[in-house]
Amino acid sequence: MNHDGLLGDLVTAVTKSPKYRTIAPDLIWRIGAVELAKRGNFKAAVKGTKNKLHQVGGAYWDTAVDYPKALTRLQNAADEESRRQTCRDLMRLHASTRERLPILDEFYATILAGLPPIHSVIDVACGLNPLALPWMPLAADATYHVYDIYGDMMAFLQGFFDLMGVNGIAHHQDILSQPPGQPADLALILKTLPCLEQAEKGAAARLLQTIQARHLLISYPVQSLGGRGKGMVENYEAQFWGLVNDQPAAAAGEPAAAADRDWHITRFEFATELAFLATTY
Ligand SMILES: C[S@@+](CC[C@H](N)C(=O)[O-])C[C@H]1O[C@@H](n2cnc3c(N)ncnc32)[C@H](O)[C@@H]1O
Repeated sequence: MNHDGLLGDLVTAVTKSPKYRTIAPDLIWRIGAVELAKRGNFKAAVKGTKNKLHQVGGAYWDTAVDYPKALTRLQNAADEESRRQTCRDLMRLHASTRERLPILDEFYATILAGLPPIHSVIDVACGLNPLALPWMPLAADATYHVYDIYGDMMAFLQGFFDLMGVNGIAHHQDILSQPPGQPADLALILKTLPCLEQAEKGAAARLLQTIQARHLLISYPVQSLGGRGKGMVENYEAQFWGLVNDQPAAAAGEPAAAADRDWHITRFEFATELAFLATTY
């Protein structure tokens, strides 16, 4: 098949659908190019591109979010407690962030407890996780850079930062095409690596090589979106240790050094998430 010009038509066709309209164009081009090369015809390539975009992003949404209404709800929250409750309610709208709600009170408090003050964070493929900021024990002056593919969600998150007086920047960015370049004390890479691998083999390792952060918090889901969780902890644990050169896992709470890299790694297992804190020296 001659792909000249077809790729532009494919991107136009895909973004006609409201579900994919605000997705970072770089990602649609990237996936579309592979699908055009692989499929026999234009229609199949459009369908294949939409399927892939659904897997890496669309599947996490039950319905379209009314972001102006969500921001108004946050603005109208009368006090800190009702603002926290609104954040919780809004985090329910993204399946991945929703899964963290039952463990939200312990997740950041436990993992970040032993760290020196965190002055800068990057939240990679963030979903609605930035709404968990009130639960993160960060330094008062902390900067917070977040990255995801949905333009409307990123505009909302920028509005949230401005409202909260947080020194935050929301980047509408495909991190496969343009990895986050911002150095930080802490990188949050929450339940993101399997998603990137689904889009492109080898993407997880490539991302980890580019992140400039002293502490990396990398996590995995313990059940699939469909609710099946059999063997997932073991599989993702193996994937993680494969990424850090096949070192055996330390016991919960115990630090272990990963071969070939000067990383100290601590493992945390919560009811709905498996997490590793990797500190580089
Ligand atoms: C499993 S969710 C994790 C969301 C969030 N980190 C959390 O744990 O709550 C994966 C996220 O990756 C985003 N994503 C997928 N591919 C991406 C890409 N190439 N660049 C940036 N974000 C991406 C999706 O939009 C989605 O929000």
